Amino acid sequence: MASAVAAKSGPIAHGEVPTFPVTIIIRRFDPEVDKEPRWVDYDLQMHGTDRVLDALHKIKWEIDGSLAFRRSCAHGVCGSDAMRINGKNRLACKTLLKDLDVSKPIYIEALKGLPLEKDLIVDMEPFFDSYRAVQPFLIASSKPKDGKERLQSAAQREIFDETTKCILCAACTSSCPVFWTDGQYFGPAAIVNAHRFIFDSRDEGAQVRMDILNDKEGVWRCRTTFNCTDACPRGIQVTKVIGEVKQAILRGKP
Ligand code: SF4
Ligand code: FES
Repeated sequence: MASAVAAKSGPIAHGEVPTFPVTIIIRRFDPEVDKEPRWVDYDLQMHGTDRVLDALHKIKWEIDGSLAFRRSCAHGVCGSDAMRINGKNRLACKTLLKDLDVSKPIYIEALKGLPLEKDLIVDMEPFFDSYRAVQPFLIASSKPKDGKERLQSAAQREIFDETTKCILCAACTSSCPVFWTDGQYFGPAAIVNAHRFIFDSRDEGAQVRMDILNDKEGVWRCRTTFNCTDACPRGIQVTKVIGEVKQAILRGKP
């Protein structure tokens, strides 16, 4: 057990943020040394304002510099630090320690369903392969009416507003039991990003994307377990979005 618990004595000074002890248990894996992942625990003294990401930083900077994880923005924007925290997919930078039960150890492991590379880092390529396959960009070959802009009303924009919020963290796709058992399934995130353009009034590629998702590994593999909706840190109603794409495919138009 590794420890970075500073001895604390005396009353808390005015304005000082109180601290508390917490045990973090991380599923570590070094491909150069380990045959199988192993659980390693760390005792820390953390502040009430700290997030899981702060605990990972403390371990990396003060106890074991070899701990590997991804993070960039640290503010819920880049989507790079999705991981399993106490069995649920969450962003480490958006999860406050005090919102977890710190009287028990906090278990942290890499996302499931994607190849494990090292510690909390998975290979995201299969995830991005599915994302790229749905052509997540505006397809419009006709000329805009005034020759300059593709106008859109606020109501037309509202239809796909929710799916513009995706940060491609993979929390949804890697929480999906169909994705775990069938690596070919496009997965929720790819469908969310297809939705973003299928329902965009300026786009002319909806049929292409609907044909792609009308595949046996497309939307029909979804079993509406709602894991994806629970996992999404952006609050996107992922299962509902998948349902909207299914309906569009059945109608033959957005
Ligand atoms: S839909 Fe939500 S959970 Fe899925 S990749 Fe986008 S932001 Fe992450
Ligand atoms: S580090 Fe960017 S979303 Fe968490």
